[in-house]
Amino acid sequence: MPSLISPEPSVLSTWKRPAPTKVDLPWADISVIDISTFDEPGGKEKLAEQLQHAVETTGFFSITGTGFTDEEAGEKKVMGTEVLDNVESVNIAKFIPELASEPRHEFFNPYLAEIEDFSRRSLALASKIFTLFALILELPPDYFSSKHLYSSKSEDHLRYMIYRPRSIAQDALVSNSWSRAHTDFGSLTLLWSQNVAGLQIKTKEGGWKYIPPVDGGIICNVGDAMQFWSAGYLKSTTHRVTRPPADQDHIHRLGLFYFVRPGDEVDIAPAPSPLLKRLGMVKEDEGEGVREKVTGLQYVRERVKNYHDHNNYEDRKGKTFKVGGLEIEDEAV
Ligand SMILES: [Fe+2]
Repeated sequence: MPSLISPEPSVLSTWKRPAPTKVDLPWADISVIDISTFDEPGGKEKLAEQLQHAVETTGFFSITGTGFTDEEAGEKKVMGTEVLDNVESVNIAKFIPELASEPRHEFFNPYLAEIEDFSRRSLALASKIFTLFALILELPPDYFSSKHLYSSKSEDHLRYMIYRPRSIAQDALVSNSWSRAHTDFGSLTLLWSQNVAGLQIKTKEGGWKYIPPVDGGIICNVGDAMQFWSAGYLKSTTHRVTRPPADQDHIHRLGLFYFVRPGDEVDIAPAPSPLLKRLGMVKEDEGEGVREKVTGLQYVRERVKNYHDHNNYEDRKGKTFKVGGLEIEDEAV
C-alpha cells in the first residue's frame, strides 16, 4: 500500500488560471450538463435526455456541478518526468492492491492521500455518466458502471500534463501540432476545463472547432471502447491539440485528466440495447455470451497497437478496427 502521510510535503507554487483568449476562434457548440441534479427524483432521466444529442453527434460534452472544486483541480498541478517534445506528463494508476507495484516518483509521496481521493472521485463521477449512457441505451442503469469498478484491475489513469510554449518557428516545423489527431481508446475521458485554447474536435464536415472553456466544468468525451459497446451510436470523435492563439502562446498549458478504461476482464461486446436493436445497429441475437469473449485488456492493448501502427489517426476514416470477432469503423461520423 502507498504511504499516506509525509511530515513535510514540499511547497508547490500556486497556479493562477490564465485568462480566456480574446481571439475570436471557431468554438464548438458543446452541451453543458449540470450533473448536481443526478440524485434528485427523475434527475437521471432528465440528464440522459439532455445528453442524448451530445453523444449521438460529437461525444464531447461538459459537466458542471461535479463536486470538484477549482482549487482541487487547479492549484496543485505537478510536473512529471516523462518528456515528449514540448509535453510532459505523468500517469497515475488506480490505487488498488493489484496495481500497488506500479512505479511512482517519490515526489508524489506527500500527496498520495489527496491524489487517491481525486482518483476515486473521478471514477465515481464517470460512473454517473455511465449510468446516463445506460439509460440512453435503455439498458439496466449499472450496465456500464459495473464494467468499470474502481476495485477491478484496468488501465485507467489519472494524468497530469503540461505543454510548454514553443516559438512560432519551432511550431511551424510541426504544422502547429501539439498533439496529433486521434480518438481516445478507453471508455470515457474526463478533462478538467482550462482556459488555454488548443483542443479541437473534428467536425462532420472535416473542419476543426475549438472546445470552449467552461467555468468549473469538466469536459467529457466518449472513447472508442464505448463506441464499440454501443455499436457506433455513442461517438468517439477525433480531436487534436494545436498551438494556442497569439494572446496565449507564451503560457504553459496544463492538463488534468482521468482516462477511464474498461475493466481488464469485462466483455467488450455490443450491448443488447433495445434502442440499438430498434435502430438496426445491434442484431437481436447479438450481445454478451454469444461469441468468443474479447476482454477489456485485449481490446485496449490491440487498440493502442493499432494507433501506434498508424501515423495520423485522421487518415483512418472509413477503415475498420478489428479485435477478436468484433469489428468497428474508425471515425464513424
Ligand atoms: Fe485524447
